[in-house]
Amino acid sequence: MNAVTDYLNQNQPRFLQELCEYLRFASVSAQPQHQPDMKACAAWLARHCRQIGLDAQVCPTAGHPIVLARTPRAGSARRPRYVVYGHYDVQPPEPFELWTSPPFEPRIEGRSLYARGSSDNKGQHFAHLKAVEAYLRTGTELPCDLTFVLEGEEEVGSQSLETFLQQRRAELKCDAIVISDTGMPGKDLPALTYGLRGIVSFEIVLRGPDRDLHSGIFGGAVDNPAMALSQMLARLRDRNGRVAVPGFYDAVVPLTAPERRQLARLPLQEAALRRLLGVPKLLGERGYTATEQRSARPTIEINGLTSGYQGEGGKTIIPAWARAKITCRLVPDQDPDRILALLRRHLKQLCPPTVRLEIVGGHGAEAYLVSPASPPAQASLRALKAAFGRQPVLLREGGSIPIVNDLKRILGADSLMLGLALPDCNAHSPNEKFDLDCFAKGQLMSAHLWRELAGT
Ligand code: BES
Ligand code: ZN
Repeated sequence: MNAVTDYLNQNQPRFLQELCEYLRFASVSAQPQHQPDMKACAAWLARHCRQIGLDAQVCPTAGHPIVLARTPRAGSARRPRYVVYGHYDVQPPEPFELWTSPPFEPRIEGRSLYARGSSDNKGQHFAHLKAVEAYLRTGTELPCDLTFVLEGEEEVGSQSLETFLQQRRAELKCDAIVISDTGMPGKDLPALTYGLRGIVSFEIVLRGPDRDLHSGIFGGAVDNPAMALSQMLARLRDRNGRVAVPGFYDAVVPLTAPERRQLARLPLQEAALRRLLGVPKLLGERGYTATEQRSARPTIEINGLTSGYQGEGGKTIIPAWARAKITCRLVPDQDPDRILALLRRHLKQLCPPTVRLEIVGGHGAEAYLVSPASPPAQASLRALKAAFGRQPVLLREGGSIPIVNDLKRILGADSLMLGLALPDCNAHSPNEKFDLDCFAKGQLMSAHLWRELAGT
């Protein structure tokens, strides 16, 4: 083990350079103009995996390619097998003007590495790759077989990966899945995440007149789609911060008293959260703490809202259409399809007869919850403690990783979520960053993890 940790210690500057190279790809899965960058990024990643001694290939899919990389298989003995999941796609970087330095030109300041994708998720799975490199390059025997599955569609719902898992089911069968794509509450507070929220997403389009109209000549006689949409959206959440869609809470599993006590002990409660986010006052579902609201209660959010003239100055029109991008975060046992059906029905009821309603898209994923008491979970807690020198905390987090349910269903294995992102990492925001100590300790955690897991 010393050889592995020495190797990690000695090679940090090179690892950092390599990570910067990886971060230079504008691998934005949601934007069609970045398709060549997605391809180039996948090719680079596979090449890098080969350089560190893995058998790697770029696997084409109906969407963005998946990079599959395996440790060389030793002999025929059945050893424990683990899949390491990560995603090389990133969220759109806009608005560009709020970035201190360009999103795809990595910049190091103090112990922070700034770039889109640094925390979410390139830096996090790169830590695992570097730990495995340390084993392979020092000739230290890995006690298990590893397969990296690095996809390019996580930020858009992981549609191609499900088919891929089904096709490669036998090859990917494993004892557990390791994912570093979540958070930790502080630099010295490692965490095992045992729950994630699910999600449904869709777009609402309201169409009014067949073209933008002069608001003076016609205003008053025709409905304004932007006004109609605002009124509909305003009715989706009530004054107690609850989602006002009939049936929405029917299947929600209530929080238990021990869970609530545990959540109350975590850092970043109300005041600290308000300061971190720069809001004058927090808002949430009445009767729940901010930590409960953002990890274990369902929500509805407008992610984007577009209508009318967006350029400089004014333009006196009644816009022809208005659109909103909506997502709900779900908790156990809400079913995404059922929630989508409830929303459709409710929106139809709310829509006035003066505009036409269209609901576009709609995909979802269930929430995820595993026992932190299982032997693999306990092994990962030991690996976190060994690397960070502190007792890890257990988290339920509010974000979603849509594929974890498919991984469970198709491969029959639970996911161990060992996040390395800090609360101020600016994931999905301008100036995303990754902490270099979390990067180094993440590598160390991964190095310990394979021993701990294989020993269970
Ligand atoms: N890394 C996040 C998920 C995450 C973040 C989990 C923080 C727990 C804590 C992931 O990249 C992500 O952003 N997922 C999307 C999925 C969606 C686009 C279907 C999300 O949660 O919005
Ligand atoms: Zn993300």
